[in-house]
Amino acid sequence: MASTSPPTATDPALVAALRTDLAAAAYTVEGVSDLLGPLAGAALAREQVLPAQRATADAGTPLATLVRLFGLGDAVDTDDVAAALPTLGLQGAQSLGLVREQGPGVVATCDLRPYGDEDHAWWVASDLAEIATREPLHEDHVLGIGGASTTLASWTPRPVVGRALDIGTGCGVQALHLGAHAGHVTVTDLSERALDYARFNAALNDVSWEVVGGSMLDPVAGRQFELIVSNPPFVITPRTPDVPLFEYRDGGASGDAIVAGLVRSIGDHLVPGGIAQFLGNWEVVGDTDWRDRVRGWVEGTGLDAWIVQRDVQDPAEYAETWARDGGHHSATVEFATMYAAWLDDFASRDVTAVGFGVVTLQRPLGDRDPFVHLDEVGGPVAQPMGPHVLAGIRARTWLAEHGDDELLSVAWTAAADVTEERHSRPGDPDPTVILLRQGGGLRRSVRLDTAGAALLSVCDGTLPARAAIAAIAQLLEVDEDALRPDLVALLRELVADGLLT
Ligand SMILES: C[S@@+](CC[C@H](N)C(=O)[O-])C[C@H]1O[C@@H](n2cnc3c(N)ncnc32)[C@H](O)[C@@H]1O
Repeated sequence: MASTSPPTATDPALVAALRTDLAAAAYTVEGVSDLLGPLAGAALAREQVLPAQRATADAGTPLATLVRLFGLGDAVDTDDVAAALPTLGLQGAQSLGLVREQGPGVVATCDLRPYGDEDHAWWVASDLAEIATREPLHEDHVLGIGGASTTLASWTPRPVVGRALDIGTGCGVQALHLGAHAGHVTVTDLSERALDYARFNAALNDVSWEVVGGSMLDPVAGRQFELIVSNPPFVITPRTPDVPLFEYRDGGASGDAIVAGLVRSIGDHLVPGGIAQFLGNWEVVGDTDWRDRVRGWVEGTGLDAWIVQRDVQDPAEYAETWARDGGHHSATVEFATMYAAWLDDFASRDVTAVGFGVVTLQRPLGDRDPFVHLDEVGGPVAQPMGPHVLAGIRARTWLAEHGDDELLSVAWTAAADVTEERHSRPGDPDPTVILLRQGGGLRRSVRLDTAGAALLSVCDGTLPARAAIAAIAQLLEVDEDALRPDLVALLRELVADGLLT
């Protein structure tokens, strides 16, 4: 079946009526979560609708009707829909392109769900997910809010800025966040269908974005921004007819060229001091290190880079993830054909693994050597991560702008979330391992030697690091000049990651 048209925002009065009804029904993240309860909510997160259908079937409230209609893809009784949307009315909902009649009832033609952060409540329309249509996705599918969307939203540093850009906006989820701290938001996408959804979502949430069509940075040629974010179509996809070209995840380039291109060209679109952040995949070739490849992309750009690899998959895991993602089940011929195409594609470039991570780039304000930090951090991190990323960029900028003399002149303080662990063999008087642990941020743990532990023990903001190192050298009866380089390196690492402030 062909894709149905996205909803239209051409009649502001109808959009306002919808907003009124959604608010009156308490169609919020908390409202839906309370209605479904933990079991059905968790099942839905695993793409299982049945428990949610059972939790909402007999509730008979406007909220339950909205969940069944727009979240689960169920056919809903006409009277129930009219009762759930009393201001908009059934006809208004049809005029907006949100629903159509089916048999005796009504079905949604798009997904529409509440979404929010600590301070905002929004609604976001997108194409119906596979769990609602019960069929594989169309190639022009416009994605709703997924794991990658929320990862990027969590990691985005959010200084107050004048102009911000969201590349590949899709339904506009990143732009909703940007609007909370940017004076002007520009969104782009190659997909006109996505741009229609973005226009609708901007209108529904009563915000205003500049919406421009085109590929990657083409639509903003010659323009610069203070903050750029992108959850780009980074999925590495074999260029064969066996694999559908899903617009939402595949930018049409070979291998990891989309992300490489973004790293290389985004600096032209940043004002001095501007920050860009995006997600990406990168190929690991043979037995090389991912850092070599990604450092090669950054080299020559003049940009500061802090790139954190969060996950690694082998080619088979990657193929399974993305063959399944479009709605194909592993027992089918289509799945097996796609799986083979991915394995062949990776083998043709000797790709042994694929890294996933968060790329944060900054155009330096002045004329100095850029910093390039490439880290590997798996597992849970702070939520949201954005404040920590901003602090990390600021700390790294300070380190890049100041030499060791200035570093040693500061009386550093261990951050409030830093603790120390000492492990020793039973009966041993001295610890064999001393670990510094960060409670928030990237949840770093750093192994300390005796001198490092001694330095940290006096980081209370009163003693400049130079004097502390001199005293430690005396105490340990070692040469101060020999001790200093290791402790300077430790200071730089701990300051960069916010363990010392
Ligand atoms: C992974 S989705 C991200 C959507 C949304 N920004 C989010 O965070 O969930 C990638 C988006 O990039 C768009 N896209 C695909 N190819 C593109 C290209 N060459 N240039 C710009 N956008 C593209 C897709 O239409 C899709 O909306």
